Amino acid sequence: MNILVLGAGGRENAFCWKLSKSKLINKIYAAPGNAGTQNYAENHNISVNDFKKIKSLVIDKEIKMVLVGPEEPLVKGIHDYFLNDDSIKDVHVIGPQKKGALLEGSKSFAKEFMIRNNIPTAKYFKVNENNINEGNLFLEKLSPPYVLKADGLAAGKGVLILNNLIEAKIELRKMLIDQKFGDASKNVVIEEFLEGIELSCFILTDGKNYINFPMAKDYKKIGEGDTGLNTGGMGAISPVPFVSKEFKNKIDKEIIKPTIFGLKKEKIPFRGFIFFGLIKVKDQPKVIEYNVRMGDPETEAVLPRIKNDFGKILISLVNDNLKFIKMKFLKDSAATIVSVSGGYPSKYEKGKEIKGLERKTESIIFHCGTIKKSNKVLTNGGRVLAVTSFGKDFKMAVSKSYKSIENINYKGSYYRKDIGFDL
Ligand code: AMP
Ligand code: GLY
Repeated sequence: MNILVLGAGGRENAFCWKLSKSKLINKIYAAPGNAGTQNYAENHNISVNDFKKIKSLVIDKEIKMVLVGPEEPLVKGIHDYFLNDDSIKDVHVIGPQKKGALLEGSKSFAKEFMIRNNIPTAKYFKVNENNINEGNLFLEKLSPPYVLKADGLAAGKGVLILNNLIEAKIELRKMLIDQKFGDASKNVVIEEFLEGIELSCFILTDGKNYINFPMAKDYKKIGEGDTGLNTGGMGAISPVPFVSKEFKNKIDKEIIKPTIFGLKKEKIPFRGFIFFGLIKVKDQPKVIEYNVRMGDPETEAVLPRIKNDFGKILISLVNDNLKFIKMKFLKDSAATIVSVSGGYPSKYEKGKEIKGLERKTESIIFHCGTIKKSNKVLTNGGRVLAVTSFGKDFKMAVSKSYKSIENINYKGSYYRKDIGFDL
């Protein structure tokens, strides 16, 4: 079977790498891909949101499966687009249709879904420009810090955490009235702040059955000690040392199963990944957010720990055979360190030559924002590389990744030197 991987990040590089080991996958295509996917796939410079061009590529290359990396094309309805077109309706799209993608595409939809299905999450209130006063009253009842979330997709920037009530009220107005995040903040979800440690939990589901992928812990802040601006993710560790068997069972029973049950009950078709952004509050897991895709950089730590044939997993998913898959994970820990362009997540430059990629290494070097030009690999994004290593425990894995990352250089490179510091 020929497969197309949509996206251009480290996650998609990890997908292509793992699919290249599959006995059941014939040819891999990536759109747009990066210099790393090019090692395993044929790249095509097509945007993930250009459904027409994706359709032409799928027909032209006899692609039978499309694995969607990022959320945006799912929220925009790529799966529905395929289903509504006779010439491509039999192509298997991995990723939910528009309705299911709302779990990520609308924070208020996700909250209402959780409340209907008794899934533990933070208290919330939904506000629009007509009920700002009620929103302010809700804020007054909470204690700081205050959490404000743009309802729609805002490129990972739509969540504000504010320490001061007056500031929170001002920001709420900016979001609703001044459209701080454009249409995405026409509605805002105000949330109770949850105190605890976060973790990322992944399943693959056909809407009825599901399989667990390994869990991971992701490091979102740019600065050491979890300080500074939020990024897409600066590192990840899998498994998560503080997840006991009991805690995992609790997640399955109180969060994953009720989510699948809710999808079935509410007749929301869903074929793809669900990434539960969780927080452990004392011994209670709660959902911070749903994503309808794999995480990045979590995928780069999670996929290398899966022993199964990834192609077989995806083919079983679309053939209704998911229940026959027995997942097997490496016992070893994996640690991924992300190296970024200087200035990221604010302004940064692209086009710096990356040197040292050809050196022998114990690690797997996944490319995030890179491009190949005249046989040179250049930086082409904020997050540039994700380096994954294994070890008996996460500390050993982390130190191997640091050793490898030191051998790779480009102007302005930066990485956090404390991944795993809190564990
Ligand atoms: P989200 O985009 O919903 O993942 O939010 C981004 C980040 O904000 C999360 O990873 C958390 O660190 C933080 N966050 C979001 N909601 C809450 C909450 N209710 N309590 C505490 N932290 C939160
Ligand atoms: N690493 C978090 C995310 O993929 O959203």
